Amino acid sequence: MVLVKPDGVRRNLVGEVISRIERKGYSISALKMMNADRAMLERHYAEHASKPFFEPLVEFMLSGSIVAMIAEGNRVIEGFRLLAGATDPTVAAPGTIRGDLGCDQGTEAVQNIVHGSDSVESANREIEIFFGGSIGSGTVERNT
Ligand code: RTP
Ligand code: MG
Repeated sequence: MVLVKPDGVRRNLVGEVISRIERKGYSISALKMMNADRAMLERHYAEHASKPFFEPLVEFMLSGSIVAMIAEGNRVIEGFRLLAGATDPTVAAPGTIRGDLGCDQGTEAVQNIVHGSDSVESANREIEIFFGGSIGSGTVERNT
């Protein structure tokens, strides 16, 4: 499960992120733009609940629309994490999404354009949070 975070959406990098995923050879099998709510984000980032950046991180993720997508392919979790690059965009390797497109903004929560699940278990948990039963429902919502 990949998210384009609010900084990526604000900077019109949704297409760039999708393009890098597809050019690598993965397929996008579900995609939606949404405004996450606090409950979703607190579940999503539960592992970081005790960290000092937790509340700023939730606030950052509430600051604008996000795009959630499911990318598929052999070893896609490993592959996307490499495409994304290191968490800190200042030191993320050039050639990666974060390394090419991001830099430190001096904010409490690091703004780094994308999220990618770190295991199959996390991916399944996160897909439930961001897609729930809505995959293939045919419902269209327009974000304003
Ligand atoms: P992600 O979960 O978003 O794919 O990123 P990640 O695995 O590389 O990083 P993780 O350690 O899971 O942290 C989740 C997100 O929290 C923000 N963060 N801020 N201020 C800080 O030291 C700090 N550390 C992490 C980043 O937005 C990071 O992606
Ligand atoms: Mg993580």
